Amino acid sequence: MEEEFVVVLEEKDLQEGKMKLVSFEGLPILFIKQQGKIFVIDNRCPHMGCGFSGGTLAGLVIVCPCHDWRFNLETGEYEDEPLIKLKKFEFKVESGKIWIKLEE
Ligand code: FES
Repeated sequence: MEEEFVVVLEEKDLQEGKMKLVSFEGLPILFIKQQGKIFVIDNRCPHMGCGFSGGTLAGLVIVCPCHDWRFNLETGEYEDEPLIKLKKFEFKVESGKIWIKLEE
């Protein structure tokens, strides 16, 4: 399996307390900055696939707009059933850009 880092977003385009949805090669990737921390997740909720970008942030929790499932952004875990997790992307911030690691 080949893995590579690709640039998907300029760091300056991600504001504190905001989400930014980017489609990259057909993948809906959601960038979030909360409390000075950056999170990069798959926008599709693991429950029924709704887009997290239409949801809300509550501290370090993201709430899905469809059925209000709450996920911890740091662990990815669904609060009521930690075995269910949202998908997080590995990333790095370099030269003012956010690079994410994609698995081929
Ligand atoms: S699709 Fe996200 S909580 Fe149901």
